Amino acid sequence: MTRTVLATASAALAQQVYDATRGDLAALPLGPLPQETSALLAATGGEPLDVVVLDAAGAAEHALALAAHLGQECPTIAVVLVSDEWADLARTALTNGVLDIVRPDASVPELELALGRARHVAQLRAHAALTGAPGNDAASNRGRVISVASPKGGVGKTTVSTNLAVGLAKAAPQSVVLVDLDIQFGDVAHALNLTPEYTLVDAVRPAGHDAMVLKTYLTLHETGLYVICGAENPAEADGINAEDVANLLELLAAEFRYVVVDTAPGMSEHTLVAMDHTNDLVMVTSMDVPGVRGLRKELDTLTDLGMFTDARHIVINFADPSRGLSAADVRGTLGTDVDLLLPLSKAVPVSVNQGVPLLQSGGRGPVTKQLRRLVDRFTSSPVAETRTGPRRSWVGAR
Ligand SMILES: Nc1ncnc2c1ncn2[C@@H]1O[C@H](COP(=O)(O)OP(=O)(O)OP(=O)(O)O)[C@@H](O)[C@H]1O
Ligand SMILES: [Mg+2]
Repeated sequence: MTRTVLATASAALAQQVYDATRGDLAALPLGPLPQETSALLAATGGEPLDVVVLDAAGAAEHALALAAHLGQECPTIAVVLVSDEWADLARTALTNGVLDIVRPDASVPELELALGRARHVAQLRAHAALTGAPGNDAASNRGRVISVASPKGGVGKTTVSTNLAVGLAKAAPQSVVLVDLDIQFGDVAHALNLTPEYTLVDAVRPAGHDAMVLKTYLTLHETGLYVICGAENPAEADGINAEDVANLLELLAAEFRYVVVDTAPGMSEHTLVAMDHTNDLVMVTSMDVPGVRGLRKELDTLTDLGMFTDARHIVINFADPSRGLSAADVRGTLGTDVDLLLPLSKAVPVSVNQGVPLLQSGGRGPVTKQLRRLVDRFTSSPVAETRTGPRRSWVGAR
């Protein structure tokens, strides 16, 4: 379903945006910006819209007015302006509800990043509008839910979540459950060398909505960790909806001291709902410029939404001095401290291939040491008592 609309007179820009969205785009006929927002809103044939891209070339004021009207009429839509007058426009653009400004000569990857973030913001807004701003369920006996997420794939989420869960289970046997919420392509079972009898699909079935029954669907790992493994194939997972995930996490949090959640890359509906039920968010990214920049945007989004202000843990993976990026560079780009720097190490793929997490096999390697530090963050710190949910309005977004 197309949820991005473009208005531009430039064929070159239209092509770039087309490529960046892989053709999933409703473009108005090439020409000046429409007079009214109705032309933009109608472009998807009445389907809800996530992102509107407005080419402000020669019509900055009109583009800003359209953005402001869109903000009033459909506050969940994220507006991205295309302009080379960034410095002049930035302040006015933000107060007019523009989420981002990209240059007319932005590359396809740059556009992909900007539009991906815009889509993500629109989805967060829509989610917040549907569910209201969730408060924190800090009931004293509720377990601590820790979700591991990242804007991009292949950056080490599963490595971090399986090690964190095993490390916590060593400290608190039988009190930790790991949930593979990478609904379609989860590989927690593989990383832990488990052959589960039941999977997430069974755990969220109606009969599973009872703590006792649910326990029978868990797979016990040799470290004393309970695991809900991902579905065997992507098609099987299709029926799992956001409510299933919410129910499951609450049941688990009522039963376990720690619930660790591995997620799919990006902010899927399942990850968003998991975040609503999460106390601590572990954000993982790779130590390279696109990865760190992507994380910065993600953190800005969370900050703007007031989420996990005191309960986010930043892990930079694949740290390698020879790659020309220092910890100080990363800190500078992120605008905040990094909590954990995981070095690039052959020991990691070896452990994944063997299905034995580093914190299970022990050892003193540098990655193992850092992973232990991550575990300590949770065993030695209090649960975040409050978490402010998403705001309904988006002001000052970067
Ligand atoms: N510090 C590291 N050094 C070397 N290899 C690593 C490191 N961390 C992770 N890897 C390797 O990178 C690959 C991706 O890791 P992992 O599966 O944990 O990422 P992911 O974020 O869960 O990926 P996906 O988004 O596909 O779920 C794996 O092969 C893993 O062994
Ligand atoms: Mg993974």
